[in-house]
Amino acid sequence: MKDSTSRTETGTRTGIVMSRFGARSSHAGSLIAPGALAILLWLGGSQGALAQKPPAQAPSSDELRPLYANAMDVDEGKHLARTTCSNCHGAEGLSTTAGVPNLAGQRSVYLYRELRAYASGARDVSAMTDAVKFLSTDALIDVAAYYASLEPAQPAAASDVKGSADPAQAGKAAAAGCAGCHGEIGVSKTPGTPSLVGLDPKYLVAAMAAYKSGQRKNDIMKAMIAPLAEANLNNIALFYATQKPVRAQTAAPGNATAGQALAASCAGCHGAQGISGNPATPSLAGQDAQYLAAVLHGYQDGSRSDATMKGLAAGLDDGAIKNLAAYYASLQPQPPAVPKSLTAAQWAERCDRCHGINGNSADPHVPALAAQRADYLEKVLDAYRSGVRRSPEMAAMVDVLSENDIKNLAAYYARQKARAVVYVPIPSR
Ligand code: HEC
Ligand code: HEC
Ligand code: HEC
Ligand code: HEC
Repeated sequence: MKDSTSRTETGTRTGIVMSRFGARSSHAGSLIAPGALAILLWLGGSQGALAQKPPAQAPSSDELRPLYANAMDVDEGKHLARTTCSNCHGAEGLSTTAGVPNLAGQRSVYLYRELRAYASGARDVSAMTDAVKFLSTDALIDVAAYYASLEPAQPAAASDVKGSADPAQAGKAAAAGCAGCHGEIGVSKTPGTPSLVGLDPKYLVAAMAAYKSGQRKNDIMKAMIAPLAEANLNNIALFYATQKPVRAQTAAPGNATAGQALAASCAGCHGAQGISGNPATPSLAGQDAQYLAAVLHGYQDGSRSDATMKGLAAGLDDGAIKNLAAYYASLQPQPPAVPKSLTAAQWAERCDRCHGINGNSADPHVPALAAQRADYLEKVLDAYRSGVRRSPEMAAMVDVLSENDIKNLAAYYARQKARAVVYVPIPSR
């Protein structure tokens, strides 16, 4: 542990915190060499080190071996790293290659655990499996201890790793070409063209996808939607769904009072005031009357296909359609329920419960995230999400993250200052 001693003398603020391993060793002697107590040494600030959740699985004594590597072991690890790993992971464990993680300052027990996962194929990445499959347990321990002993990467500059823009803001930009027909914020001024406000984002996405696939037939809309990627459709839908809805600014020639009486049979699905509670069923309140009438005719003649609506529209004559349209157009639209998205910093509070303050893990089993490469973080979060990389802890977390959240979290952690830790065994009595 010569390395660690010298690093405490570099002038960074140093704090000493007893780690959980220290506490555990007093009643579980098998974890830690008799007579020794593990002390966690924070280099460069100590606040909050104990706020982290304990590991789900108790560490085995074998897994803790990298914590007790001595200077000679670290030296052997260094030799192995230079000959076998640095081509990809960079000199001193600082990667310059997209998709390859920094290893410098990463927690030793975690590194050792992952190396064994690659060796056994449990973490299936051929570049890594090829690099480690012939290495002995001792070699893996040494190289893990070596990389853990190195000074971590500098945080990425904010200008280098930007998260994705606010999705609704991105949607506004992508919807610029829609304003001419649908209105600046989706409130139609053109008879026959629907308003897009007051509609559930899921409904909007499904409607756009239906034009794209040709299931819903409209040449203009197909041409407008065809070039847009799926992420764009989500962003556009979110933009319209978060605008303050008002009634379409168009005339409604029918008799709304007569329409209200007919609407009793529609209320079960479209809501009592034309506000639907189901994302698959559109709200009708405040919609352009001419569009509503055209759609009902469309269900009748089959130019718009929907089994449910076809049956319901079949019995309506032209007068009934006009009156229903006038009634729904007269109602006040409401903003749809949009799932509230958390900012990267709000998400990170949840992640930090396991990964330590600002991604500086104080638990040698749990990886530090601070100052890791953003491209790598994004890649592994996607891997957890798709199930390619398996971890019970992470599966539950990434399930609820959107693609945008992942981009933003990767950028967030890449920008955090990384702090080295060392775990120093000292005599207990
Ligand atoms: C051919 C290039 C290559 C070589 C050589 C290589 N690595 Fe890797 N390493 C990678 C890539 C790519 C990843 C990311 C894989 C993934 O996404 O799981 C990785 C991931 C890792 C990880 C996981 C880090 C984390 O944060 O989870 C560890 C640990 C690691 N390498 C250690 C080593 C060691 C030790 C050696 C030398 C014995 C080595 N690597 C040699 C390419 C390489
Ligand atoms: C040239 C005029 C025009 C432009 C430009 C246009 N639309 Fe449309 N849009 C229409 C018309 C007309 C309809 C009704 C088509 C139908 O009857 O199915 C429609 C229907 C829709 C619907 C279905 C609404 C509902 O209530 O089911 C959505 C969603 C939509 N457009 C989104 C967009 C988006 C997003 C853009 C920009 C990328 C766009 N439109 C550009 C004219 C336009
Ligand atoms: C059993 C449930 C149900 C009932 C009852 C029902 N609808 Fe619908 N309606 C739907 C669904 C689901 C859709 C979406 C279908 C689609 O995507 O084309 C829809 C779509 C519509 C649309 C298209 C809106 C748009 O933005 O494109 C109109 C207009 C409409 N319904 C009017 C009515 C009227 C008027 C009645 C009563 C006479 C009625 N609906 C009764 C389920 C229902
Ligand atoms: C319940 C504890 C827990 C929570 C909460 C948690 N993680 Fe993890 N995380 C882990 C563990 C344990 C691992 C190591 C799993 C493995 O070996 O694959 C891990 C691994 C990772 C990795 C891989 C690191 C590397 O170097 O390869 C990333 C990235 C990550 N977590 C990000 C996050 C983010 C972002 C969040 C919040 C959205 C989060 N984690 C929340 C426990 C947690």
